[in-house]
Amino acid sequence: MNSDSTDWIRSLLKYAVLAPSSHNTQPWLFKITDTTVSLYADRTRALPANDPDDRELTISCGCALMNLRVAAAHEGFWLTCDITPKLNDEDLLAVISFSKADTVSLTEAELFQSIERRRTYRKRFESRDVPDSILGTLSGVATEEGAWLHVIKSEEKRQKIAALVSEGDLIQWSNPSWRRELASWMHPRRRGDGLTVPSVVAPIAQAVVRTFDMGNGVGAKDKQLADESPVLAVIGTDGDSVKDWLGAGQALEKILLSADSSGLQASYLNQPIQVASLRTKLQNLLDRGGFPQILLRLGFPTDEIKAAPRRSLDEVIE
Ligand SMILES: Cc1cc2nc3c(=O)[nH]c(=O)nc-3n(C[C@H](O)[C@H](O)[C@H](O)COP(=O)(O)O)c2cc1C
Repeated sequence: MNSDSTDWIRSLLKYAVLAPSSHNTQPWLFKITDTTVSLYADRTRALPANDPDDRELTISCGCALMNLRVAAAHEGFWLTCDITPKLNDEDLLAVISFSKADTVSLTEAELFQSIERRRTYRKRFESRDVPDSILGTLSGVATEEGAWLHVIKSEEKRQKIAALVSEGDLIQWSNPSWRRELASWMHPRRRGDGLTVPSVVAPIAQAVVRTFDMGNGVGAKDKQLADESPVLAVIGTDGDSVKDWLGAGQALEKILLSADSSGLQASYLNQPIQVASLRTKLQNLLDRGGFPQILLRLGFPTDEIKAAPRRSLDEVIE
């Protein structure tokens, strides 16, 4: 491979790493080989208490893969992805090759501007409704990626799901290992990963999270966020394998980028999916087959927020 194509692939990976990831762990590694790039799960950045099966880790890698697809489409290239190749390496998630497209996938290319604009928006949204036409587009995007988007329409179900979210908070915060893990990913911005806290207060914030069970307070706040969100929606898949998780990640990021292109942002209330016993309850509430993967709230943000930090490309390319 010549240095031009390596540089070109690196220029696309600059966008891949802007993908969201649980606790901002950025659990991906890329190996550039002769005109292909391989995507690996970096399990040294796993969250065993929060995500014991590496399900969210794989979803995060799927988000990075979608950004790579969008960036390549923007440059007029198709990606061919060999998903979960069987090379006796369970960390290898996909081998990606590029070919010049006769016609570019317009929808994917059009999402390019949203890669740098997308944010996880944890504040309250404007109270205005999200038009059904936008929700229809987002559901279509999920289907294109082999997943589904289930928008919660019934008020009764919304309240039940909001109650599951706060129950999930209570369960997670009561677990000292879970709290320790969360605290260990609370970093000053200069670290380039994790959930940012100002450097002066970082040691105190970490100690508070490690020591105190704040499940009641966090649960009440999250329940209110779920109750008030203009849109509450579940992304799910028919199966629950590594391949499904990678697909769910691509669907999630395409939904987030499409949402951004309509002025929307999103954030996560995944507790009832992360806690195995609650996942079954959520599954029953949705009253459809398949597996919930991500619980999102969506709406119009009231202000602009700063981008979360990322590690340098050199740290994620081997
Ligand atoms: C699979 C997955 C799960 C996530 N779960 C949560 C969550 O439970 N709570 C939350 O506040 N953010 C969650 N996030 C958002 C990340 O914390 C966020 O992507 C990261 O901090 C980087 O910020 P950014 O999305 O604004 O770039 C999740 C993201 C992904 C991809």
